[in-house]
Amino acid sequence: MSEYIEVDQEIPRFRVNRKVMTDPAVFAVERERIFDHSWLYIGHETELAKPNDYVTRTVAGRPLILARDAKGKVRVWVNSCPHRGAMLCREPKGNARFMTCFYHGWSFNNSGEVVSIPDDAGYGAGFERPGLAAPAKVGSYRGFVFVSFDPDIVDLPTYLAGAKEYLDLVSDQSEVGMRVLPGTHEYSVKANWKLLTENSYDGYHLVSTHQRYLEMITAAHGKADISFASNSIAVNLGGGHAVMAGTPASGAALGRPLSEEAKHEKAEHFERLRQTHGDAWVDRMGGTRNLVIFPNLVVIDLVMGVLIRRIEPVTPDYMEVSAWQLVPPEEGEELHRQRLDNFLTFWGPGGLASPDDVEALETCQRSYAAQRELPWSDISRGMHTPHKGMNGEYQMRTWWRRWHELVAGEALPEEPQAPLPDFFAGQRQRPASATAEAK
Ligand code: FES
Ligand code: FE
Repeated sequence: MSEYIEVDQEIPRFRVNRKVMTDPAVFAVERERIFDHSWLYIGHETELAKPNDYVTRTVAGRPLILARDAKGKVRVWVNSCPHRGAMLCREPKGNARFMTCFYHGWSFNNSGEVVSIPDDAGYGAGFERPGLAAPAKVGSYRGFVFVSFDPDIVDLPTYLAGAKEYLDLVSDQSEVGMRVLPGTHEYSVKANWKLLTENSYDGYHLVSTHQRYLEMITAAHGKADISFASNSIAVNLGGGHAVMAGTPASGAALGRPLSEEAKHEKAEHFERLRQTHGDAWVDRMGGTRNLVIFPNLVVIDLVMGVLIRRIEPVTPDYMEVSAWQLVPPEEGEELHRQRLDNFLTFWGPGGLASPDDVEALETCQRSYAAQRELPWSDISRGMHTPHKGMNGEYQMRTWWRRWHELVAGEALPEEPQAPLPDFFAGQRQRPASATAEAK
């Protein structure tokens, strides 16, 4: 029996020991066995619109620079001067062909080469001028850029496994390429990072935690339709990735009301997409998806905009969160405005949803101080039923199984995937014609 996760198929029961949320030793093992051996999201290519654009990010504790070099190639550098370590870029974003270290003045171009060293006569003739360091691997899928610190990791498409289907459903919503809008939400939560991965596809908490939001929707629509649970399914995508996916009916229930103008724009845009992608795929695009790519990337597409969320563990009881809005650039201004409004007022750190979630997570973390009296958290919902929908916890168990395999070095008993309803099973890959066009 594992000290971290207890599975009993008879009851059935799946529970997680709360010490994995608080123990610094577990946190250190996660850093080493998960974060040093996964593909980790750093940013989207469209955040670097022009050559020499850059953003700085912390990924698994490492300060990194994501840059488009002078020739347009996407690069990732360690944000540390090879001389004695001062941070090269201290801005969150900018445009610079050269980066000059403020400590002793060494300069580098954005292809990573050192281009000048003040008073370099002070170095011997054989001195090797060091360039910038880089993570072992950099990869990109549909504009989503990932890094890995493991030189032997599988390639990114293999790692993403079934999650590619859902990144495609998001990315195909534009014919010219989905684009991240300028502006980042940044906030921190005094809770273990795993609590937010769970929460990001936890449909069960909606009615209780987000009561005020549902009241607002009720006021706008006349009634709150929470029948989404029966229109959704949790899907194991392999590799610890999972999605809680809904039909368009679930989106209509969950989404913020659109103005008539925006509804019209959206309908027209989707009609155009049908010509490239065919009806079955575009119908699927119209559904909802809360996707978690193991370990810490969240993509949520609830009809009113696509949210990209990256969770950065800092200590066992503290995480930093960044979020961006991904849009089809060809949509009209009105729909963009409403998407941005939704991004700020629903998902934002002071919006309708996030503060409620943060409060829930922080109280969980505080209560884990009593873990000797109450050591286990329960994640068994839906184990007994063949339909593991939005109100179940199958998606979280999928994640935890991968976590356990990496951290404890041992596989837990599998749990079968529920058969996919026709809507989700009908077409599982983007059409070949579209594949040829999009790189
Ligand atoms: Fe950067 Fe010395 S630490 S130039
Ligand atoms: Fe929530």
